[in-house]
Parts: sequence; structure tokens; C-alpha cells
Amino acid sequence: MSVVGFNKKTVKDINLENKRVLMRADYNVPVQNGKISDDYRIKQSVQTIKYILSQKGTRLVIISHLGRPTGPDDKAASLKPVAEHLSKILDRKVRFATDCIGETAKAAAQSMGEHEVLLLENVRFHPEEEKNDPAFAKALAEASQAEVFVQDGFGVVHRAHASTEAVTHLLPSVAGLLLANEVETIENVIKDPAKPLVSVVGGAKISDKIEVLDKLIDISDCVAVIGAMANNFLLAEKLRVGKSKLEPEAMDTTREILERAKKEEKARNFNFIIPIDAVVSTKANGTAPTRIVDLSGNNLADIEAYPKTPRQAAYNLQADEIILDIGPVSAAMIAGAIKLSNTVIWNGTAGVTETRGIAGAHDPFAHGTHTIIEAMIGDSNQHANKPFSLVGGGDTVSYVEQLGLTEDFNHVSTGGGASLELIAGHKLPGIEALQAKN
Ligand code: 3PG
Repeated sequence: MSVVGFNKKTVKDINLENKRVLMRADYNVPVQNGKISDDYRIKQSVQTIKYILSQKGTRLVIISHLGRPTGPDDKAASLKPVAEHLSKILDRKVRFATDCIGETAKAAAQSMGEHEVLLLENVRFHPEEEKNDPAFAKALAEASQAEVFVQDGFGVVHRAHASTEAVTHLLPSVAGLLLANEVETIENVIKDPAKPLVSVVGGAKISDKIEVLDKLIDISDCVAVIGAMANNFLLAEKLRVGKSKLEPEAMDTTREILERAKKEEKARNFNFIIPIDAVVSTKANGTAPTRIVDLSGNNLADIEAYPKTPRQAAYNLQADEIILDIGPVSAAMIAGAIKLSNTVIWNGTAGVTETRGIAGAHDPFAHGTHTIIEAMIGDSNQHANKPFSLVGGGDTVSYVEQLGLTEDFNHVSTGGGASLELIAGHKLPGIEALQAKN
């Protein structure tokens, strides 16, 4: 794999000595009852924070959004718990101001000492943020009194907002280390992957991933479609989907993608995989019996009955059943392709991984995802042949983090939409706005 360099300046390309720095992070993390349930994005921003603080006499003001708040009274979207969490991770006090502009923010920024960190309240509490309003950007720059802007919120650089775009017109603007690493890694994989390349794409909505699928069909040796979005492809192949989640308005697009993939299969060594078996149930919450069906009509096993009773007579996916995971045969096919590959791009889980079985099967709809993960990161016997793995997508990354496996992949992206747009080959406004290297 030849390395394509990141062509924007980073924090390491400028002199930060005695400077006040305004850094945009993406701390859009899940918060439940004031507690952060997945802090991957916060932890990944630490490298840039530490670098900035290692420079003589710096003061660091951080801005971010959280969620899509309706207004400043939407307390669930406050960044205060993030300030507390960041304090713990950095093992130093992180101060917090209850507004990101105006006197409150200004007073907090003014009273900062050298090497202090201040997190300002959610920029989306002001509707001007999402309008990329220049006056709001000016208010942000003024309140922080910054002399340099550092963009490190990779997850949000696909948005042209005041804190990602307009603000770069007011201050010298460079990339943080997280952003630079994300862009360089993803662009290198897309431009020059070590072949064979297998792409595994799942998740709920095809409409979010049309361009990505198109791009991945262009560059991959094998594309496997999993998760709820695979149901559209099954229907396009005239297979039964029972009560499974579908995106009816995307059926025409699904047929077009399928047709294109089949043409590619004829034209070159390319393989397009959609599930041929599935784990199904009448309920998604793990309270109803679970079966594995061959999607062309055969019942492969009654999980609860195995191995006590022999297989039941073959029967189709029933009209009231829901496809909740790919079956073991599909998972084995995809795992086989992964084991033969040198690069894997994975975005989207295969099933409803969050369901816990109440009676019967344990994590009943997570087995497909686990088989795919194991093929990617290897078991104890097979580490030597690990493909380079690039993982993206909010839910996928949360799941990998929950399993404690982020370190086992080569690159786990902090970006959801941003990583998809980068893979699709789009220019991202928050990156374009930064200073070029030369
Ligand atoms: C994300 O989680 O994808 C980013 O933080 C962007 O959030 P948004 O989709 O609400 O703009």
C-alpha cells in the first residue's frame, strides 16, 4: 500500500508557543442519566489535547456539539458530563462554561492560566451554528480569544457549520492529530488498498449508503451486504422477508445496485454476497423462539431444541417472522472471504446485536457479527494472516468498544457519516476549509 500524505497543516506544522488555542472536537457521545456510555470519541481526542498542552504556555478552549438539541433548555444535550469525564481521562481539571459565546464564555476563557483546559457548552444550543453563520463564528472566536483554530472533530467535518467552516475564515486553521490520522488512513485504504479487498456493509438504511456501496463495488474484490439493509436485496431477489425491516422507497435503487453488482461479477473476479440464511423470530427482543432458516425455504435448526430433538420438517420463513441476524452459512461465507483478504472495510453490524436472550439463546442476534469480527481480528492461531481492518459507523464502533476490541483492529473510525462520505470520495467542508500544507 503506497502512502498518500495528508495535505493540510496539522498542529505539528505551526508554532503554538504561548498561544490560546480553540479546538473543535466531536464529543457527540451517548449520555444516559449524566453518564457517558461510550467514550471512544473522547479518548481518541486526547492525543491532540496532550500535544497542544505539551507546547509552552498554551491555553486550550474546546468546543463541540452533542446531539440535535431543540434549544438551550434541552439539558440532556449539555456537555457538562463530558467536561467531568474528560477531566478524569486527562487527570487534570477541565473547566466548563455554561455558554459557548458571550460574557460567560469570555470570562471563563479570560481567567484561564497556562496549560488549562476549558470546555464550552454545546454549540448547537445556538441555531446559528448549523446555519454556518459568520457572526456566530466570530462570537465563538472572540469569546475564546483564540489565536489558532484546531479542527479535530473528524465525526463532524462533513457538516458546513459555524464551528467547522465559518470559523476557519477568522483564525489560522489546522488539523488535529485525530483528524489527520483518520483522513490519511481512510484515503489510503480507498486509493490503494492491499488486495484482495473485502467490504462488509450493514446497518439499517440503504439510502444512507448508496454512494458508498457504489464506490465499494468499484474498488473491492468482494462486497457483502448484511444487517437490515440486506432485506431490500432479498426482496429484490424475490425472496420472502416476512415482517422484516424494509426500506420500500429504496427498492428501485436496490435493484439498480444489484444489477450493477451482477454485471461486475460477470465482467471480472468480483463477488457480491447477500445472506442466504438468517436467524429469525417473531420478536426482536429475545422473548420469542429463535430459528435459523435457509432463506430459500428450509429450516436449518431450531436453536432452543438443539441438540435434544432432531430438526423439524423444512419450512419457509413465516409471514410473521423477522430477520434479525444473518445465519451461520452466510456468516461462514463472509468469514471465508475475509480470511482470504488483505484489507477489510467494515461498516454496519449483521444483526440486532443489542438484544439479550431472556430464555434460550445467549445474544441471539449477534452471532453473525461475532463470526465476521473473529475472521477480521483472528483467533489465537491465526494472527499472522490478519487483514488490514478499517471499521466505521457509530453503532458498529460502539459495539466493538463494548466488546473491548477496538485495539484489535487497525483503524476504528470516530466518524459515522463523515467516514462514509470520505469513503464515497466526497470533499468534506470542515477539511477543505483548513490551511493547505504548501
Ligand atoms: C455524528 O455523530 O455522526 C456526528 O457527531 C455528527 O452529528 P450530526 O449527524 O447530528 O450532525
